[in-house]
Amino acid sequence: MKAVVFEKGQLLVKDVPTPKPKEGEVLVAIKAAGLNRRDLYTPGRLGNDREALILGSDATGVVEELGVGVSNWKIGDEVIINPSLRWYEQSDIPPEDFEILSLPDNGTFAEKIAISAEQLEPKPAFLSVEEAAVIGISPLTGYRALFTKGQIKAGQTVFIPGAGSGVATFLIQMAKNVGAKVLVTSRSEEKRQAALKIGADRAIDTNSDWTKELEDETIDLVIESVGRATFNRSLAVLKKGGKIVVFGATTEDVVDFDLRQFFYGQYTLLGSTLGSREEFRACIEHMEKYNTHPVLDRSFKLDDAQAALDYLKENHQFGKIIFTI
Ligand SMILES: NC(=O)c1ccc[n+]([C@@H]2O[C@H](COP(=O)([O-])OP(=O)(O)OC[C@H]3O[C@@H](n4cnc5c(N)ncnc54)[C@H](OP(=O)(O)O)[C@@H]3O)[C@@H](O)[C@H]2O)c1
Repeated sequence: MKAVVFEKGQLLVKDVPTPKPKEGEVLVAIKAAGLNRRDLYTPGRLGNDREALILGSDATGVVEELGVGVSNWKIGDEVIINPSLRWYEQSDIPPEDFEILSLPDNGTFAEKIAISAEQLEPKPAFLSVEEAAVIGISPLTGYRALFTKGQIKAGQTVFIPGAGSGVATFLIQMAKNVGAKVLVTSRSEEKRQAALKIGADRAIDTNSDWTKELEDETIDLVIESVGRATFNRSLAVLKKGGKIVVFGATTEDVVDFDLRQFFYGQYTLLGSTLGSREEFRACIEHMEKYNTHPVLDRSFKLDDAQAALDYLKENHQFGKIIFTI
């Protein structure tokens, strides 16, 4: 089968053996797969010595073969893959054996994947194949950050720097669904306009003076994933006693901030990563209830994997990028 692999320091599109489902696993024929920033980081984490690893964490497809002992799926079922491995029950932290699909296991940028039957969910019928391909890392991360951690309520104001990101587009939609006011930033005018179109109430330039631009706003919650480039400015516009949830650091992990200002301000800083299966299911229910369709930017073929990853790296996208297979 064809797959996008990282092998000994190189990104390759090549033929690899089709996996056989082991006991408790299902072989899924993948129809479309979603890209995440993680797919850019995985090669760096792997190092240059590692044998071929298939990249990719999100996908939708059709059940093609059942491993021994699998009775909850049948051949022909349309499914999506939950990339949050072995984190089933809602909890403050994932279990010890939690991993995100595609490191160390093979991922979804391939024609087929063999994966535990526990990691599959029915493909939501209200979504197209292309839309279902991105119901993985981004919506799940956004759901946990916004609801489980951020506890957003109707009438509150949430601030989201980096509006064009895969997760941010879900955050905008889900926050609007529950009646929150949504403020975003982007460096691109085109993305600011796009954010307003999907429901953001205000979109400001990431490079503007936020304290001045937002002086008339009372921000209850900030959802941060840009990192060093914006963290301190995000904290500066948060209301005293407000919450800031961090799930990413696109522009650098290490940030200096003023502790005295922080504790005088009675702020709460919360870390969040992905989510449990319970949250994954709750997220899908939420999207179905509000008829929320993912924002798709563009699709590529597996053969154009390098172009797709470059496009993601250069931050051209508004919403999600996919492979159609
Ligand atoms: N912990 C987890 O479970 C988890 C899950 C998903 C993602 N993440 C992390 O969260 C981050 C966002 O992920 P994603 O897939 O949603 O991101 P993405 O689609 O790759 O988007 C990155 C965003 O960052 C903004 N940005 C990039 N460089 C910037 C700079 N120098 N200054 C200001 N803004 C900048 C861009 O905003 P504009 O182009 O609009 O200005 C862009 O929208 C990534 O770091 C990712 O690794 C973590």
